[in-house]
Formats: sequence, C-alpha cells, structure tokens
Amino acid sequence: MPSREHDVGSAAEFGDCEPKGVSVEGRALVLVRAGDAFFAARDICPHQAARLSEGEVRGTTAPCKPGEDVRYGREGEILVCPWHGWEYDLTTGRALVDPDRVRVATYPVRVVDDRVLVAM
Ligand code: FES
Repeated sequence: MPSREHDVGSAAEFGDCEPKGVSVEGRALVLVRAGDAFFAARDICPHQAARLSEGEVRGTTAPCKPGEDVRYGREGEILVCPWHGWEYDLTTGRALVDPDRVRVATYPVRVVDDRVLVAM
C-alpha cells in the first residue's frame, strides 16, 4: 500500500526537543523537532506501553573503553521513555539497549511551506 502524507501542524507548533503526541488516522504518534530535523514514531513504548510523547529528548553517551573519557553526543536524536528510561534512536526507532530486537516504528517527515507532513 503506498504511503500517504498527513499534515500534523505548523512547524512553529513543535518546540525544539519537546516530544509532542499527535493522532493520525487513529494511530498515536510522537513527533520530535530537533533544530531543523523532524522525527515521527509510534507513541507507545514496546516495553510496557508508556506514551513516548511524555518522555524526554536528549543525546546519549558514546561507547568507550575503561579509562577513556566519557563522550556525550547525538543531542536531539534520542527519545527516552518516561517510565523505565529505555532510549530510542529517533533516526531508526531502535532501542539502544537491544537494537536488533526492540524498536518502535518510525515514519518519514518533511516540512513543506511550514507544514509538517508525516508519511504513513
Ligand atoms: S514502558 Fe518504556 S521503558 Fe518501560
């Protein structure tokens, strides 16, 4: 089935790194704006079904070896579940804790004439 784009609002309605829940055709999505980038994912955590739109957007620590300095990065690309803190990569939907087995569905987003369009 071909995807269809849905208008979920003006880009100005989305605060930077503030997850926002929206409903598209009865499906709950979480939209995240990080600077000029927009991400969309299902608004339900695969662990125990918390609303990811009530979570927090931030970065994460990079892998490092014992004794190395801890580096922090990817600000605005990680959505953290509000209940137990599982982290999701907004670019892929995969959970950082187990990326091969745990993920949320993600959807392409683009902005046209200040309108945010999600393809589903
Ligand atoms: S419900 Fe999301 S980490 Fe538990």
